[in-house]
Amino acid sequence: MLLIHNIGLLQTPIGSTSQRGTAQGENRKYRNASVLIDGETIVGITQDGVLPPCPPDTTRLDAGGAFVTPGWVDSHTHLVFGGWRQHEIPLKLKGASYLEILQSGGGILDTVRQTRALSEDALFARASAFLDEQLRFGVTTTEIKSGYGLDLENELKQPRVIRRLNETHAMDVVATCMAAHAVPPEYAGRTDAYMDVVCGEILPRVAEEKLAQYCDVFCETGVFSVAQSRRVLETARSLGFGLKIHADEIDAIGGALLAGELGAISAEHLIATDVSGISALSAGNVTACLLPQTSLYLNKNFARAREMISRGVAVAVASDFNPGSCPSLNLQLSANLAYLRYRMTPEEILTALTLNAACAIGLGEKLGTIEPGKQADLTLWNADGMELLCYRMGSNQVKAVVKRGKVVVS
Ligand code: NIG
Ligand code: FE
Repeated sequence: MLLIHNIGLLQTPIGSTSQRGTAQGENRKYRNASVLIDGETIVGITQDGVLPPCPPDTTRLDAGGAFVTPGWVDSHTHLVFGGWRQHEIPLKLKGASYLEILQSGGGILDTVRQTRALSEDALFARASAFLDEQLRFGVTTTEIKSGYGLDLENELKQPRVIRRLNETHAMDVVATCMAAHAVPPEYAGRTDAYMDVVCGEILPRVAEEKLAQYCDVFCETGVFSVAQSRRVLETARSLGFGLKIHADEIDAIGGALLAGELGAISAEHLIATDVSGISALSAGNVTACLLPQTSLYLNKNFARAREMISRGVAVAVASDFNPGSCPSLNLQLSANLAYLRYRMTPEEILTALTLNAACAIGLGEKLGTIEPGKQADLTLWNADGMELLCYRMGSNQVKAVVKRGKVVVS
């Protein structure tokens, strides 16, 4: 057994389902606490300096008065890719928009070229180092999307890397097939023909090999229309995938409405989503996965998180780590921006980064809170509470990370 004692403050949401409305801001707080772990599972929590009864051979970890939360969950990344795209910055500074760069064959398509050029082993090595970095930032579970392959061979290569990461790395990893991320150069001007490949070849094969649990689509002006997105998602549903959608990242063309209508597990970005979209998400019980670093990096508005919460939409906050719109996998920066720009409370932010994020990737039963029976994933912080964590900016405030009952960062 492992006993983590001398915890100054332990703060956690409660439950296994996503928390909406006022419930999003309800956290349980234990002062002068300890957590008892048996193998990979939390078995007890005590407070007020009381220690739980434990066997004599129990290993003790003195938290030194640290603030402790559930391990954070990054519920939206594009983490398996080749190369970087620093050459885009001068173009952007001259006024080129994200979609203009994509339409001229750059952007996502640039990363597709760089990703196709790498072997499975090379992609694995890069991605594995990114997972190490996430752990050091206090993240213990991550979602990863494909979508830099855009042909059958490469859209199998990316999820095979993701599966290998899940098998070999301390981090829990959930895979999403995003073959509908852009139209590859071979199909330029023939989007529907590429849709046939996605729906007729790639998704069935990914499902057959059980390489991904979720399917996502970039529903955006000049990329995939609402009708095309609907086709991808309905096909995915018939093949057994859970549904996600990049909706209203740049233009509100109806992605949030589609997410609500299809009852997607989550809708991502929602930067341009208006009240009708927010109502659709609420009616469809869709978690809003908000990505504030992308708003910052693309110099866009910030999603209307307060309105989402007040209209009963469960909000998760993630990074969107990718080489174009968010080359950062520091989830603490998302917490800062959620505080300052979404005006979420520190309690709402903690729920967004843990339980709601876990629910957005189907892991709410197992992860996202510190409660007996949940997997022992905990982050110890050099802070006295969420207020300080959300206020400090730029420093990594992690003190230690426990994953499945083992200290993996200290
Ligand atoms: O979520 N919008 C689509 N996908 C990513 C960006 C991918 C890229 O630019 O490489 C996003 O912002
Ligand atoms: Fe994304």
